[in-house]
Amino acid sequence: MGTIFESFRIKMVEPIALSTREERERVLAAAGYNLFRVPARSIIIDLLTDSGTGAMSAEQWAAMMRGDESYAGSESFDRFRAAIEDIYGFRHVIPTHQGRAAERILAATLCRPGHVVPNNTHFDTTRANVEAAGATAVDLPCREGADLAAPHPFKGDIDLERLERVLDDNPGRVPFAMMTVTNNGGGGQPVSMANLRAASEICRRRGVPFYLDACRFAENAYFIRRREPGWGDKPLIEIARAMFALADGCTMSAKKDGMANIGGFLCTNDDALARQEEELLILTEGFPTYGGMAGRDLEAIAVGLYEALDLDYQRYRHASVRYLGEHVAAAGVPIVQPPGGHAIYLDAAAMLPHLPRSEYPGQALAIALYLEGGIRSVEIGSVMFGRRDPDSGAEAYAEHELVRLAVPRRVYTKSHIDYVVETILAVHARRESIAGVTIVEQPRTLRHFSAVFAPVAATAAPPVETAAVTA
Ligand code: F0G
Repeated sequence: MGTIFESFRIKMVEPIALSTREERERVLAAAGYNLFRVPARSIIIDLLTDSGTGAMSAEQWAAMMRGDESYAGSESFDRFRAAIEDIYGFRHVIPTHQGRAAERILAATLCRPGHVVPNNTHFDTTRANVEAAGATAVDLPCREGADLAAPHPFKGDIDLERLERVLDDNPGRVPFAMMTVTNNGGGGQPVSMANLRAASEICRRRGVPFYLDACRFAENAYFIRRREPGWGDKPLIEIARAMFALADGCTMSAKKDGMANIGGFLCTNDDALARQEEELLILTEGFPTYGGMAGRDLEAIAVGLYEALDLDYQRYRHASVRYLGEHVAAAGVPIVQPPGGHAIYLDAAAMLPHLPRSEYPGQALAIALYLEGGIRSVEIGSVMFGRRDPDSGAEAYAEHELVRLAVPRRVYTKSHIDYVVETILAVHARRESIAGVTIVEQPRTLRHFSAVFAPVAATAAPPVETAAVTA
């Protein structure tokens, strides 16, 4: 059957406030044309992130009522640890308030100046934590990943030859190697079991600990089941266990495939390292049986990790994201192919070739999607990764100008996705009239969160009239 079947019923609803284009124009101007500064109540469909934005299940809410809020030795921690031991199989489980806290503890404990940490592609907080500890973060995406439009099944793979070279060129200076599953920085693309196994062997032969950034491990397991020979009949939990068996530890943001609104953890099989990490945990996060979380958060994650591995749920999730990608691509909208696990990435540079890099085509497209249909996306291009020299004002641009549409878990139905498709197509139809933006104000670092933009007066072709999508 072709129907996208939401594998759940809805028994609690949250209203979506509809708005007119004129209202959105006002809100956007007041927000300095920066979608991070737009109040959530002024958004119709929020695809800013899939992190912490999912809907919890009745079972998760029920479990939360059992939350044991004891400072030490909470039973909720026992259930949290038991779930992670069962699925992930690591000896030590260190709870943290979210993924980046796990990254910070790992990097601060293991990384020193002069060290090098390889990854298929570091997520920005992972890179920042490695660099904050004085080490160098290197991205080694596979070659197939570089061609945005090529539909390779495992574009999240690491380049094994370059991984070997980095390890051989830096003996004693690689505290750990990491693989991000799925590869968020690389278009939400999956990593194959074969690539994980090969990378793990390369590291283990040289005594280098091999870690997973496991945020979207269940989505990755589903891709392996669908695309990699030999896994097509295996339960997702078995695939996940096989992935983790190749690693010595992991960092995890439970805000993704933990199906929770907050939380994370760090795992390791190394007893001495776990003791050091727990010392830092107590200093910055909390006692080792709660980390930075409430007992009820631990309960929500203990249930959520299993729900993420439910085959019917993953079928719905992947079908929903794929549907969005395939429908816009079929109408000629350039996207990173194939569709990712949690998000679709629009190629703004290809869609808006009339805009120079200096007019930030990704930001211009994100603004157009908001004005057209109240959709919030995020620019992943030169606003996020470009750098302006503070003295000369010269700007170095990012490699790609993308706009990410990340789909929250169990939140939007097929009608909502249809609305997103309709909005993207309306914007695509009048793409030649979309004006660029300039940055009028920006902070020194992480400028995308707070920069103020201004539209550049449109000088291109006159606006093409299209049927307006009114919500
Ligand atoms: N690793 C990856 C691959 C991520 O995507 C994120 C968060 C983190 C680590 C950090 O986890 O937010 O719990 O501290 N990604 C979000 C996103 C923010 O929108 O992609 P966190």
